[in-house]
Amino acid sequence: GEMPLDRWLAGYIRDVPDHPRPGVLFKDYSALLAEPRAFAAAVDFLAELCSRRRATKVAGLEARGFLLGTPVAVRCELGFVPVRKKGKLPGRTLSRAYELEYGSDVIEIQQDALGPRDRVIVLDDVLATGGTALAAASLIAETGAQVVSVAVLLELGALSGRRRMERDLAGVPLDALITA
Ligand code: PRP
Repeated sequence: GEMPLDRWLAGYIRDVPDHPRPGVLFKDYSALLAEPRAFAAAVDFLAELCSRRRATKVAGLEARGFLLGTPVAVRCELGFVPVRKKGKLPGRTLSRAYELEYGSDVIEIQQDALGPRDRVIVLDDVLATGGTALAAASLIAETGAQVVSVAVLLELGALSGRRRMERDLAGVPLDALITA
């Protein structure tokens, strides 16, 4: 029979030990982006989620969430909203600090990018601890918009981002194409 989508796409993801720092296992999916049929299949899956969740906007998280979020937004004919690292977006912004493995960071969104009528799908490449997605979701909620899903290409099961989301973002589904 035909190989399931997640198994097929997982074949394009390579583990790189000790990148970018010793002790970190980096998930490199450059080969997936470089293979047009695989990339298109991933985009189609995520675009289908946008429809199922009846999203009105796609919010992509810098930087690698932009790689998937922009083609998905175009495919499902929705506007794209960038969530960026501190200091990049002009005008009035809302900010949220979040913890990283080492230290902390701040992400921002433009204040007028979303409103109470929006149903937003938060799109990123990887969910690890869930810290980035949770910060983005809380930022989006502050605009009055509703977060209808956190959608990722790859969920790293061992890092328990899913449990953290269930605890801190109850009622928002986590949609992952591949779980590793
Ligand atoms: C990576 C990845 C996710 C986040 C996942 O981004 O693209 O956004 O980490 O980790 P978490 O679930 O533990 O928060 P990174 O912060 O490395 O930024 P980049 O995409 O700009 O490289």
